[in-house]
Amino acid sequence: MNTSKILFVCLGNICRSPMAHGLVRHLAENQFVRLDVDSCGTSGYHAGEAPDLRAQAKMKEKGIDISDLRSRAFSQSDFNEFDEIYVMDLSNLKDVMAMAQTEEHKNKVQLFLKLGTEETLEVPDPYYGSEDGFELVYQLLQNSAKTLIANHK
Ligand code: 4NP
Repeated sequence: MNTSKILFVCLGNICRSPMAHGLVRHLAENQFVRLDVDSCGTSGYHAGEAPDLRAQAKMKEKGIDISDLRSRAFSQSDFNEFDEIYVMDLSNLKDVMAMAQTEEHKNKVQLFLKLGTEETLEVPDPYYGSEDGFELVYQLLQNSAKTLIANHK
């Protein structure tokens, strides 16, 4: 079977989507699940930048290194490149859906937390908040990440 290509999308691609990217990459590697994982932002505000230092620190605390990741903006070609596109909040969903040109493209896009069991369907943006926000992001991602891995076993 071909390796599935998974894309995580948030606004800046320096907090939430790199955390999801790093978490799923880590779980896939540890469990020998073949996944190609990438992440990007609906904006290019931080293009070329490494993840926010608070996101890097939170992931390092959990044993996951995301220092190699670099921000890039979502592009139209991502709809063809990726099999599954997971967005972090409803604003990301609206922005990505607005760029979709076919039903096939639209069907690839979903709120990431829909895979999980959390009551909330949105991963809140931690950028302007306190350090606690990054722990919350990490916790909210867990169930959905496990489901995603299980779906590809
Ligand atoms: P992210 O967080 O979408 O989780 O990467 C943000 C990062 C930067 C900005 C907004 C959200 N910003 O406006 O610069």
